[in-house]
Amino acid sequence: MAFGVLGVFLGLLLEVSTHGPSSVPRMSWKHQELDLIEFSEPGIFNYSTLLLNEDEAVLYVGAREAVFELSMRNVSVKKNKVIWKVPDTHMTMCIQKGKSKETDCLNYIRVLQMLDDSSLYVCGTHAFQPVCDFLSLKDFKLQKKQEDGRGKCPFDPEQSFTTVMVDGELYSGTAYNFLGSEPIISRYSHSQSLLRTEYSTSWLNEPSFVYADVIREGKNSPDGDDDKIYYFFTEVSVEYEFFGKLLIPRIARVCKGDLGGQRTLQKKWTTFLKAKLVCSMPELNFVFNVVHDVFVLKMDDWKESIIYGVFTSQWGNVGLSAVCAYNMSTVEDVFSKGKYMQKATVEQSHTKWVRFNGITPSPRPGACINNNNRMQNINSSLHLPDKTLQFIKDHPLLEDPVLPIGNGPRLIAKDVNYTQIAVERVQALDTNLYDVIFTATDKGFLYKSVIYGNEVHTVEEVQLLRNSEPIKTLLLSSQGRFLYAGSDTGVVQAPTAFCEKYSSCEDCLLARDPYCAWDTDAMACVNIFQELNTAQWSLVQSLNGDADSCPKVKMLSKEEYHRISVKPGSSVELPCLIRSNLGQAVWKVNGSMLTDASRFYLMSESGLLIYSVANEDQGLYECWSIEWGGGRNFTRLVAGYVLTLESFANTSYSGTFSSSAAHKSSTATEAPLVSPSPADISSPSPPKSPPSLPSSSSSSSSLGVRLLPPLLSDQAVGIHAQEAFLLFCLALGPSDLHIHWQVNGQRLEAPVKEYRHSVTQWEVFLSSWLRQEVLEKDSEFQCTATSHVGNETTKTVISLSSRDEDSAPANALSQWKSALSHHEKLLQSWKKAWVRSVALLKFFSSFATF
Ligand SMILES: *[C@@H]1O[C@H](CO)[C@@H](O)[C@H](O)[C@H]1NC(C)=O
Ligand SMILES: *[C@@H]1O[C@H](CO)[C@@H](O)[C@H](O)[C@H]1NC(C)=O
Ligand SMILES: *[C@@H]1O[C@H](CO)[C@@H](O)[C@H](O)[C@H]1NC(C)=O
Ligand SMILES: *[C@@H]1O[C@H](CO)[C@@H](O)[C@H](O)[C@H]1NC(C)=O
Ligand SMILES: *[C@@H]1O[C@H](CO)[C@@H](O)[C@H](O)[C@H]1NC(C)=O
Ligand SMILES: *[C@@H]1O[C@H](CO)[C@@H](O)[C@H](O)[C@H]1NC(C)=O
Ligand SMILES: *[C@@H]1O[C@H](CO)[C@@H](O)[C@H](O)[C@H]1NC(C)=O
Ligand SMILES: *[C@@H]1O[C@H](CO)[C@@H](O)[C@H](O)[C@H]1NC(C)=O
Ligand SMILES: *[C@@H]1O[C@H](CO)[C@@H](O)[C@H](O)[C@H]1NC(C)=O
Repeated sequence: MAFGVLGVFLGLLLEVSTHGPSSVPRMSWKHQELDLIEFSEPGIFNYSTLLLNEDEAVLYVGAREAVFELSMRNVSVKKNKVIWKVPDTHMTMCIQKGKSKETDCLNYIRVLQMLDDSSLYVCGTHAFQPVCDFLSLKDFKLQKKQEDGRGKCPFDPEQSFTTVMVDGELYSGTAYNFLGSEPIISRYSHSQSLLRTEYSTSWLNEPSFVYADVIREGKNSPDGDDDKIYYFFTEVSVEYEFFGKLLIPRIARVCKGDLGGQRTLQKKWTTFLKAKLVCSMPELNFVFNVVHDVFVLKMDDWKESIIYGVFTSQWGNVGLSAVCAYNMSTVEDVFSKGKYMQKATVEQSHTKWVRFNGITPSPRPGACINNNNRMQNINSSLHLPDKTLQFIKDHPLLEDPVLPIGNGPRLIAKDVNYTQIAVERVQALDTNLYDVIFTATDKGFLYKSVIYGNEVHTVEEVQLLRNSEPIKTLLLSSQGRFLYAGSDTGVVQAPTAFCEKYSSCEDCLLARDPYCAWDTDAMACVNIFQELNTAQWSLVQSLNGDADSCPKVKMLSKEEYHRISVKPGSSVELPCLIRSNLGQAVWKVNGSMLTDASRFYLMSESGLLIYSVANEDQGLYECWSIEWGGGRNFTRLVAGYVLTLESFANTSYSGTFSSSAAHKSSTATEAPLVSPSPADISSPSPPKSPPSLPSSSSSSSSLGVRLLPPLLSDQAVGIHAQEAFLLFCLALGPSDLHIHWQVNGQRLEAPVKEYRHSVTQWEVFLSSWLRQEVLEKDSEFQCTATSHVGNETTKTVISLSSRDEDSAPANALSQWKSALSHHEKLLQSWKKAWVRSVALLKFFSSFATF
């Protein structure tokens, strides 16, 4: 049977970016930028089991050896806590069986389910001997009515499991034995004995359970059908021939009314059926074959419910995650009409799974009892004929797969591993319904994406956890509109939207967040699902991002531009932070676009760096942002600057500057000035000879590491120790080149960013700059360019000694200037390909009319 997985791998990944609904998050929020509420207690770990009780407005948390009751509105408010440790005797036995005292033999709370209004059913791994108990909500105490936890809770805290409580009966998927080798899907209730799966690889083959939920089909069912419990897991396939273990995502179901068989399948499920859950990109032959989590978006009519799953590929190094969605009605069709598979023996010992083409017994094997059966006097599974039972025992697998809506993923993400998913269907101001998908990752991030027709838009990426660790559980509250994430180190509560973070109407609309709208009265971006004292008509929302529907506001006038004046020869950074990852900054100088012909500038994501400011650099600088929204490119002015040299600070910039004026320094600053170290002044070292141009024929072996002028000692001339200043470091070298900064011999804690641009196939140009606040003592700065072929270092001492500016060494300054101009010519000849991306260059031409 052809299964595309073998044709996957490399190369294809490039294609994935151009196929399918992959999406870059528009905003990226860091943990410390947000008001997230956190909970953890010293010495307690593994907060991985969460249960919301919205009626009581509390969140129950199962951790290692503890259960907490937290306020749902503020998880930092602890209402109750109970400790549940393992008795010494159990601990000793566990250690004797070769398990670790510090980790394995503790009690990890894994099952936390509401039994009724006044109690919880709680199970823990209990030193590899699972135990369950009842937790009274009145006094938050364990009832000490301990029960065997086998089949309900795993022995091994590392092992996968899932549970769901349905009408007081606990449905679980876990391992039944100490070794974890016997998988089981079971139902436990007080009134009946345990109902379970056959121990057979045709039923379950090394499954990893991820989720289970009930679909209430029984309510108002015309044919008297039953409620069903669906299980989701990944298991090792039996039906495909593969050189290794090929994993397959599965959906399985059992009927709530199942009582097992009379003789055949006694105390076993008579309704256990499973099918393949497909999440693939057929056009690329790419298969996501591991399911990690599932969320069922339940609708009043169960047939309209949608199952959302997060998937990755078995080959984790591929670095892709996907979200696929399934219609409940499609699932129902597969289970009620699908063909069965059967094991056939070929060439004596070899078995193979093939489609069953014979006549299936009646009633249909694996179906729930309905009115039709009752009419034939089959009132429960106990009355099912042996033929039906024998058949389902041997044929639990369906051939027909469950295909996703649209035959492919709803969402594809590169370079992330999704671990959890939650989905909310919201009604926006346009009265339409939108599915908002929240996905959590193994690095503690949360993504929020919205499906708009055939397109997916990722509103934001939120660093939920302080440290990079997996989010193990993600819960969504319906009332409070909060998300709760559980991890090994704690619980985090986050709002489902960050509307208040958008300070302008344009930002609010470009976000395309169905939770957010601009309130024209309050002049604020508000969450439309929170109680508002605003009339609906004063809210502006545009889910296609048409920022032109915003009220017109006065543009920043030239008088409001920041005035910046600097000393000749010093460097300046004009900040322009474009928070949107979909936005692009474009700089205009004196009203015209910054182009190739412009002087030497460096653009970073945070602004424009101009080094060695000279006469001709003075002028009007504007940073525009450009972002796609409302079907066109939306542009707006983000920041404006008037840059002057200090000598001219009091002259109007619009006048023409004569070069002679530049040397007539009129600034009389009293503050002590910085100067290059004495050694540099007395015997200024000649500027390093400029590097020769790399020729296209140069090979990697001929490369060295070269620092480019101006070196740090040259730059010290323009620097003022009692003002913030910039130092920069430029280097050319092989592709493993890196720049390291040191201040007073100390490597800088926060790494300084490097900007990397390829010059030739083998050679890269690196630029990096350091922003330094006012100095308190003399300081030595050092920049080292390192690579496997060698290192080169430049350093300078910047001292606080008072000195008159006019006595600045003219000689050193002029040498530096000449080095700089040489440098500039050099860079010009490289076409400055590294200053702007090719995309931006293209953009300039299309932008000419703007
Ligand atoms: C429990 O938390 C600790 C500390 O973060 C972690 O090292 C360990 O892997 C966790 N164990 C389980 C079973 O999740
Ligand atoms: C949550 O509770 C803590 C502790 O009582 C309090 O300091 C904090 O302000 C509360 N946060 C919010 C958002 O209510
Ligand atoms: C099934 O239920 C019907 C009505 O409740 C009853 O008359 C019939 O005897 C039952 N059949 C069996 C086999 O129990
Ligand atoms: C799923 O349901 C939706 C709406 O009910 C329908 O438009 C769509 O075609 C269905 N998809 C499949 C694969 O059946
Ligand atoms: C995803 O997980 C796999 C396997 O755990 C790991 O090898 C890979 O580095 C992860 N990828 C990302 C982008 O975190
Ligand atoms: C801006 O215009 C002024 C006055 O015309 C001129 O002196 C200056 O060099 C211009 N600046 C740039 C960067 O072109
Ligand atoms: C919008 O701008 C981007 C560059 O940011 C450009 O690639 C694209 O062609 C522009 N689209 C239109 C319709 O102008
Ligand atoms: C500019 O002029 C004002 C008053 O005219 C004066 O206070 C200020 O010091 C001057 N600035 C410079 C840099 O010369
Ligand atoms: C370059 O510097 C690094 C440390 O910054 C050092 O480990 C390495 O040995 C140096 N290499 C050479 C060739 O000097």
